Amino acid sequence: MDRIEIGPKTFVVVATGAGISAESGLATFRGAGGLWEGHRVEEVASPEGFAADAQLVWRFYSERRKSALAVEPNAGHLALAKLEEKLGDRFLLATQNVDGLHRRAGSKRVIAIHGELFESRCAQCFEPPFEDKQTYLEPPMPKCQVCGMALRPNIVWFGEALDHRHLRQVREAFEDHRGDCVFIAIGTSGQVYPAAGFVDQARSFGAKTWLVDLDPAHEFAARFHHVVRGKSGEVLPQLFG
Ligand code: APR
Repeated sequence: MDRIEIGPKTFVVVATGAGISAESGLATFRGAGGLWEGHRVEEVASPEGFAADAQLVWRFYSERRKSALAVEPNAGHLALAKLEEKLGDRFLLATQNVDGLHRRAGSKRVIAIHGELFESRCAQCFEPPFEDKQTYLEPPMPKCQVCGMALRPNIVWFGEALDHRHLRQVREAFEDHRGDCVFIAIGTSGQVYPAAGFVDQARSFGAKTWLVDLDPAHEFAARFHHVVRGKSGEVLPQLFG
């Protein structure tokens, strides 16, 4: 069984994708062929989709809020929370997932680079995002309390930029710990940038790179020093030295 040796000063950066939540019962994106009720995910997870049909988009995210609230973190999430407890400030978790399961598992040093499913924000004004677990399946669609315009899920949609502070945090983790850094990608197909490029950034700063995935995407896996094929819920509890 592979084990990742983590030295007394080693900094660990982890990037997770939908695969780590699969054993909790949440569908991955490509597993469902990238479809939701016959719609391409890119259609409903985009500013254009929201402008065209805000109700369809709110139905998509309301269903995902219901699904995510109905499941529990799995052994993979818990293994990462345990690793963070052991490493303290020598750990950073950048997740593409919006389901909130890492935080529910106890992870604290988490940056949700694609946004947060359980937050909403105004689509127009600059009111800050707020926690929102409500579902909006029927009209009227939710409105901003301040400016009266439409509320949207606080998700980074296709075609939108990620928070540059998140990307800087990941880059600085590699840069500041060059020579003694491990990067572990878990449960991601590596199809969406900039997250898919973290492995190249890690290697450019001399980090050792690992991919843990049930069915590693060939060209993505080829960019890692080590690849462990398996279910994250089974692999992660044994993987950390
Ligand atoms: N354990 C480990 N890996 C798994 C498991 C599992 N139990 N089940 C599935 N996987 C792997 C699949 O083999 C696949 O490589 O998880 C990966 C899921 O890939 P995607 O569905 O493409 O999800 P992800 O990579 O997170 O997508 C990235 O795309 O749709 C956008 O914004 C969305 O954040 C998402 C981004």
